[in-house]
Amino acid sequence: MKLRIPKHIEEITPYPPGKPLDELERDYGITNSIKLASNENPLGPSPLALTAIQAALADLHRYPDGSGYYLSRAIAEKDGVEPSQVVLGNGSNEIIEFLVKAFVQAGDEVITSHPSFLMYQKFVQVRGGKNHVVALKDMSHDLEAILSLASERTRLIFLDNPNNPCGTLIPTDDLLSFISEIPDHVVVVLDEAYIDFVEDNLQVDSKSLLENREGRCGVVCMRTFSKAFGLAGLRIGYGLMESSIAACLHKVRQPFNINQLALTAAEAAIRDGDFYQKTRKLVDQGKKYLMAGVDACGCRSYPSQTNFFLIDVRGDATVLYESMLRRGVIVRSMKAYGFDQFIRINVGTMIENRRFAEAFRICLKECGYV
Ligand SMILES: Cc1ncc(COP(=O)(O)O)c(C=O)c1O
Repeated sequence: MKLRIPKHIEEITPYPPGKPLDELERDYGITNSIKLASNENPLGPSPLALTAIQAALADLHRYPDGSGYYLSRAIAEKDGVEPSQVVLGNGSNEIIEFLVKAFVQAGDEVITSHPSFLMYQKFVQVRGGKNHVVALKDMSHDLEAILSLASERTRLIFLDNPNNPCGTLIPTDDLLSFISEIPDHVVVVLDEAYIDFVEDNLQVDSKSLLENREGRCGVVCMRTFSKAFGLAGLRIGYGLMESSIAACLHKVRQPFNINQLALTAAEAAIRDGDFYQKTRKLVDQGKKYLMAGVDACGCRSYPSQTNFFLIDVRGDATVLYESMLRRGVIVRSMKAYGFDQFIRINVGTMIENRRFAEAFRICLKECGYV
């Protein structure tokens, strides 16, 4: 073989996912391990979604509804928009891909923050676009620096709000004034994967930003069923946007990008208010418990508006990560994100939280960090 791999593809480092439980147990010959590394829902999938999927199994020989008619309507009703403003994705990851495909050509510029969700930059690299990466300031998006980089060549700006991995939220007033100053040919993408965990009094009314207003930039809000709705394994997310942006995204998607089980499960999960509230409560209580445990060990935990948070372990994060793995607890080392002494954990069930707290205490000692 003499492949001619384009330089911009060769340069891409694949996304590093959290270690799967199966892999850990195979590698270390252990059982009963726990994973607090991918911000998943510890309660499992929504029970209403599970029941709905079972009823849908008999129709798997049919192609799914490529328009996602019922799910788009259910989302529109929940989020207070028109169905034409909803675009469904194979995970919200696919909405990122659609946006980049639709708006970015080789040489065009996209602005992201570092650290933030890594997939924005990777999709831009695939297109041969140019990433402008702005360092977070005090663990939050540096809106002033981002604004100063927005130019005639800018196509998209990605802001994960709250930010992954820091869990910080942009104050509403700052966000509104930022959006009012961005040039009107740019699309600002608010990645709201963790919006369901944000305190009620801090929620941003992002719906009001979606309207097409003369002189103002485009805005897209991305949401997911992977976190609060417990459907990460089915891959279903969506974007909310003005209909003319939605029309562009429909041009670049496959006709059946969402499988039928995902459509059915997500529609049921939206109506599973009990599960949703139970998840929020579990995350809220678990976060308080975990943070208190971390602080008691002499490490610093960072406040977060999500189902995960950062911990400064005061030593090499990867050494601690490996020590935790040997005890069957998967967390995330933040070294790849440039935070050498930080790990990120998500809230688990109370049983998992206790397992973490105990292993963390022992591993900190084992590594000589306390
Ligand atoms: C900030 C952020 N955006 C998007 C995603 C992707 O979510 P999905 O599972 O919907 O593709 C994640 C997943 O962890 C995330 O952290």
